[in-house]
Amino acid sequence: MSKQLVEQLYLPHVAQVRQRLQTSPALRALLDPRVEPALMEGFLLQLNSLGVYMTEPVDGWIRRAGEATVRLGLEDVGQKLITHAKHEAGHHLMMIEDTRTLVARWNARRTPRLRAEALLAQAPTQAMREYREVHEETIAGPMPAAQVAIEYEIENLSVVFAPRLMEQARRVCGEDIMDAMSFVKEHAELDVGHTALNEVMLGRLLSQVPEEASLIASTGAPALDIYLRFMADCVERAQQLLRSAAA
Ligand SMILES: [Fe+2]
Ligand SMILES: [Fe+2]
Repeated sequence: MSKQLVEQLYLPHVAQVRQRLQTSPALRALLDPRVEPALMEGFLLQLNSLGVYMTEPVDGWIRRAGEATVRLGLEDVGQKLITHAKHEAGHHLMMIEDTRTLVARWNARRTPRLRAEALLAQAPTQAMREYREVHEETIAGPMPAAQVAIEYEIENLSVVFAPRLMEQARRVCGEDIMDAMSFVKEHAELDVGHTALNEVMLGRLLSQVPEEASLIASTGAPALDIYLRFMADCVERAQQLLRSAAA
C-alpha cells in the first residue's frame, strides 16, 4: 500500500533527476574504463574532504526536521526521523580519516604534494552551500517532514552509486584503495537498510498528507540534483589537481 503511494505520487517527480546518475558527464568520466588512477584518487580526495561540509550537519538536520514534524502533528514520522538522526551522528569523521589516508597514499607516489588540512579547509562550492540551504529551508518551511524525501534520495544514491564507485576504484587503483574508502564502503552497506526505512516512512507520510506529495517530491528532487552537482564539482577539482601535477 505505502510502497504503491511512493511509486504513484513520488517517484514520477524524481525520475528525471535520478536519470542524471547515468548521464552526468562528470560521473561518466569517473566510471570510464580508461580513467586515470590519479583522477579516481583525486575524486576520492575531494569527495571526502569537501564532503565533511555536507555530512557533519546531517544528524542535526534530521533530528530538527523530526522535532518540527512532531510539532506539526505527524508524530510517528517525526519520531522515526529523530531515531534515524542518531544513526547518522559522526559520519563525517570517516571522511576526515579517509582524507588523511588518501593524502598519505597520494604523497607516496604523486605530485603536487598535498596536505590534508588544506584540503579540509577548502571553501565550499555553490552546490555545497545550496545543500545546506535546502535542508534549512525544509526544516523552517511548511512541511519539515519532506526531510524524509531528502534522505530517501541521498541514501538511495549511496545504494546505487557507492558499489559502482568501489568496483571502479578497486579495478583502477588496486584493492588497497579500500583502506581509504571507509565512508563509501560503510554507506554502501548501511544505506540499504536506511533506504528501505525511508521508503516506509515516505509511504506513511504520503498516506497521511497525500495533498502534499508534490511539495514533498519537490524537496527530494533538488536535493539529489545538488548532490550530483557536488560530485561533479569533485571530479572537476580532481581534474584541476591533475593539471597542476602535469604543469
Ligand atoms: Fe551516514
Ligand atoms: Fe544513512
